[in-house]
Amino acid sequence: MSTAKKSYSRVTTHTLAEMKQNGEKISMLTAYDYTLAGLVDQAGTDVILVGDSASNVIAGHETTLPITLDEMIYHASSVIRAVKRALVVVDLPFGTYQADSKEALRSAIKIMKASGAHAVKLEGGNEERQSIERILQAGIPVMGHLGLTPQSIYKFGTYTVRAKEEAEAKKLIEDAKMLEEIGCFALVLEKIPAHLAERVAQELHIPVIGIGAGGGVDGQVLVLHDMLGMSKEFSPRFLRRYADLHTVITAAVSQYSKDVKSKNFPNEKEQY
Ligand code: KIV
Repeated sequence: MSTAKKSYSRVTTHTLAEMKQNGEKISMLTAYDYTLAGLVDQAGTDVILVGDSASNVIAGHETTLPITLDEMIYHASSVIRAVKRALVVVDLPFGTYQADSKEALRSAIKIMKASGAHAVKLEGGNEERQSIERILQAGIPVMGHLGLTPQSIYKFGTYTVRAKEEAEAKKLIEDAKMLEEIGCFALVLEKIPAHLAERVAQELHIPVIGIGAGGGVDGQVLVLHDMLGMSKEFSPRFLRRYADLHTVITAAVSQYSKDVKSKNFPNEKEQY
């Protein structure tokens, strides 16, 4: 397997399949707005996820449940306007696909038409099979999401590691195989034991992208605001902070306030 990085001018679902075949790891990050999506794209990220984690990091909700379809479309449209290379995947928010497959298809079509995104992601295995099949039949690429599925937080009760027990691990493997069989182009595995995630990635032909699922999968995803260190509060073991923007931003803003109050800003060169 070659690890040399081929340069892709536009990442598609086919590119991701090729990357898995070539043993090239896939990088994926969330983005929710024009400015940051542009930076994430220019830095060479392969997949940008307009995640329903916008409900937490942008809107300040405790869970992902409150965000609406129209809010997701607003975020996705802003991201799409900035992105030139990455594949843009949008989360179907809670309550827009679980009731029945027709509603799921309507939600997916609305997101694709209104935002110009390239694919949708939704949480769940066999229980969502009909919805996923219907969306796929309409020609919309679907990324699956198993393991810790935050839209079911009130069922789980906690955000701890999933599928540690044999029965849950067995169901996850069955669900992953089913998602591949019906035509999902990729799968996210969230917060499950690394050995289980590695096994799924080895047994599936489609790319498996992990978050808190170890290094044996085909790619990694993180929430942008978490990896940039925008907040000091959220510190799960799997999170690597690549910057400390919390410190950088609070220092800059506090200096600005001091400069305004001390009449240091604006100076003579900063006025007309
Ligand atoms: O919404 C999100 O950010 C996600 C990732 C954690 C995979 O679904």
